[in-house]
Amino acid sequence: MSDQAQFLHPLDPLGSAEIARAAEVVRVHGGLSGQAWFETIALQEPEKADLARNESPPRRAFVCCYDPESGQTWDGAVNLAEGKLEGWHHADGFQARIVSEEFAMGGAVAKADPRVIAALALRGITDLKDVLIECWSAGNFGIAAEQGERIAYCHCFLRNKAGDNPYEKPIANLHPVVDLRRMKVVRVDDFGAVPLPPDGKRLRQEVLRTDLKPLEISQPDGPSFTVEGNLVRWQKWQLRVGFHVREGLILHMIGYEDEGKLRPIMHRASMAEMVVPYGDPRGGAFRRNAFDTGEYGVGQYLDSLTLGCDCLGHIHYFDAWHHDWHGKPKQIRNAICMHEEDYGILWKHTDPVRGTVTVRRSRRLVVSAISNIGNYVYGFFWYFYQDGSIGVEIKATGIPHGTGARPEAPAEYGVRIAPGVEAHVHQHVFSFRFDMCVDGERNAVSEVNFAAVPMGEGNPHGNAIRIIENQLGSESQAQRNMDLATARYWRVINPNKFNGLGEPVAYKLVPGTNALPFNHPDSPVGRRAGFMYKHFWATQYAKGELYPAGWYPNLHEGGDGLPRWTEKDRSLDNENIVVWYTMNYHHLPRPEDWPVQPCIYASFHWMPSGFFDTNPALDVPSSTPKHCCD
Ligand code: CU
Repeated sequence: MSDQAQFLHPLDPLGSAEIARAAEVVRVHGGLSGQAWFETIALQEPEKADLARNESPPRRAFVCCYDPESGQTWDGAVNLAEGKLEGWHHADGFQARIVSEEFAMGGAVAKADPRVIAALALRGITDLKDVLIECWSAGNFGIAAEQGERIAYCHCFLRNKAGDNPYEKPIANLHPVVDLRRMKVVRVDDFGAVPLPPDGKRLRQEVLRTDLKPLEISQPDGPSFTVEGNLVRWQKWQLRVGFHVREGLILHMIGYEDEGKLRPIMHRASMAEMVVPYGDPRGGAFRRNAFDTGEYGVGQYLDSLTLGCDCLGHIHYFDAWHHDWHGKPKQIRNAICMHEEDYGILWKHTDPVRGTVTVRRSRRLVVSAISNIGNYVYGFFWYFYQDGSIGVEIKATGIPHGTGARPEAPAEYGVRIAPGVEAHVHQHVFSFRFDMCVDGERNAVSEVNFAAVPMGEGNPHGNAIRIIENQLGSESQAQRNMDLATARYWRVINPNKFNGLGEPVAYKLVPGTNALPFNHPDSPVGRRAGFMYKHFWATQYAKGELYPAGWYPNLHEGGDGLPRWTEKDRSLDNENIVVWYTMNYHHLPRPEDWPVQPCIYASFHWMPSGFFDTNPALDVPSSTPKHCCD
């Protein structure tokens, strides 16, 4: 995503000139005060029906602004060619995301407040330079004084002596409450000083192991993919790489070439929302519930990746353009990484009679981005396999959110992970959105369960297993959870296209890592993250239904997004289908996760399920056995 003077495709993200133009149009015509700032300037994606008709509507930017003077959030579109605002309106009752500048400024305001300085002094902290105060969204707990206000609930930390860990010493029980609109501390919640943890291990050790030999990836003839703008072709796969300041990495128009014809699978795929609810009810800890996508925007925090460190092999990087809160374009160099990986064996057969071995190595295309958001680091990895499968994996690393704990007090709702540091049970709940088009726009959804047949006549040995596949015909039927007892999975079917066996073609969603939420559905977080109560949702495509907790979850009372849309109970029979998959990583940190957590992995898959007539990877050539040990 270079700074294209000329975009190549209607789905290409905005370039720097387009971002600047959109900001200018809103500044001139938006009717906002001089204090107003930009939450989002991003491509307003053209409707897929227009794209299907090969029509290219005018380039539009979606713009959201927050105006501290009025306390209002405004959004709408900018027609970039005409320089006109379209649908520009006050998003009444909604709060824009917290942007990075606001996050930093709110923390600085809290740090300068005499009440905070006094509370820090009580804890023996007089040198403020190593104090970090983070402005988290306060959520919405029904507190009258907070309704309609732009409140942040702060968490405080002291950097370690070595200087490489700003989160080493949680300053327990101290929570400045900041009004981000007026940039002032409205009160300081102090639930009592707790001794600071002692010095711990630094992240950057001085004595390192010495027995690690170089491991180089060599692709002497270059990679097997081609890139044209944001269009990628690799091993029969085609896809477009996209970026959004909110969701980060987006993939568009994913298809697989079969006998010379490109067969579409997904129109758009992204991690559309996430929430990390923590399970400690005491003091101010119940406020820790980060909607990293909807409250902060994982896209604006993508790291610039480094060859040989973040990524290994022959890498193609995509840069991304976002913006600061003045609307000034900002580039993230090397924001998205793409490369090939050897993935062991793809398939193998050893003929025991003739002694012949037929084996093919698997290779996968990896498209990834890493978001560094506060203490945590989330890697979003998308894998494309030669057999038509798509893998999605989250790699979570960074520094667990610790709380200072009295040495003599037993850990409650969590565990001691270092002297004086307690980490609490929490969950990382991701909602992935898949705008499906399995071999065409009209699809249907089914659930597959397996059942043991009762032992008796017809099943005398008690081994019979039946397959039970039921169509999920409407949105209320398509709200489902995993079931280990029935080996459940879901299929997206094209009822209009048939494979060589006479069955409708399909892709199946194979769940992987998962858990169920513990927050009560009527709890403040439960209401705001209604999407997390079902692993699988399907909806009929509707314009603007992009984010499962609603467009503006920041400080919102809840009920928006998937639970609200699906009240319509629209048909899913031969319709334009969107699938939402909730992946929940239940997490109790360990001492081994401190002071920095080795990657934890959570994943799931899409697999062709009668989409092809046979193994589509039969034609993968064998590799030359030149690196065998003998
Ligand atoms: Cu965690």
